[in-house]
Amino acid sequence: MDFLKKKIRDEGVILSDSVLKVDSFLNHQIDPVLMQEIGKEFARLFQHEKITKVLTIESSGIAPGLMTALQLGVPVVFARKRMSLTLAGDLLTASIYSFTKQETNEISVSQKYVTPDDRVLIIDDFLANGQAALGLAEIVQKAGATVVGFGIVIEKSFQKGSELLRSRGFRVESLARIGSLEKGKVQFIEESEVVNA
Ligand code: G4P
Repeated sequence: MDFLKKKIRDEGVILSDSVLKVDSFLNHQIDPVLMQEIGKEFARLFQHEKITKVLTIESSGIAPGLMTALQLGVPVVFARKRMSLTLAGDLLTASIYSFTKQETNEISVSQKYVTPDDRVLIIDDFLANGQAALGLAEIVQKAGATVVGFGIVIEKSFQKGSELLRSRGFRVESLARIGSLEKGKVQFIEESEVVNA
């Protein structure tokens, strides 16, 4: 995804050695053409997996999740971080701890929308410590459905998430893998450098 890496290089703002701001195309303003390309790439990577549903989490996972679901021709469901008045009935829930915010949040999905025969592709914008990703996998497993894999737009490979998911046997496809944000520079891990991915 050279287009994505160029966008990160040109528009990303490094806030610290561990935080990259990408508000101009992913987390606040959204670039629809980039999202469409991201959707096509995830659909290509998982084309043989008989995906029946895309699962993501509000809010920034929705754009890449939706475009992926559109390409795969399946529905997208997003986990809610706050209880909604209309989200009643049987809920599948998971607790996720944010190291960044130092708080635990309960995420939920209606049982109606993830069912035992589903083959689920989980999409998210960032993979940092992997807690949101694991919470989404827990919800799929509670539904008795299958996690086919994870599609991540930006993986911060220097944090724990990617190793955590891969060590549990999950397939993780990340479109941009960042090895370091140190010295104010984005250092990508190129595909040729990826071992055991
Ligand atoms: P984890 O789920 O991987 O453990 O992540 P963590 O708790 O560290 O991250 C909490 C929030 O911060 C998540 O978004 C995550 O996507 C986002 N995040 C983590 N690292 C970065 C980063 O370097 N840059 C940016 N821009 N975001 C990062 P969220 O609070 O759920 O936000 P949103 O989806 O509502 O936008």
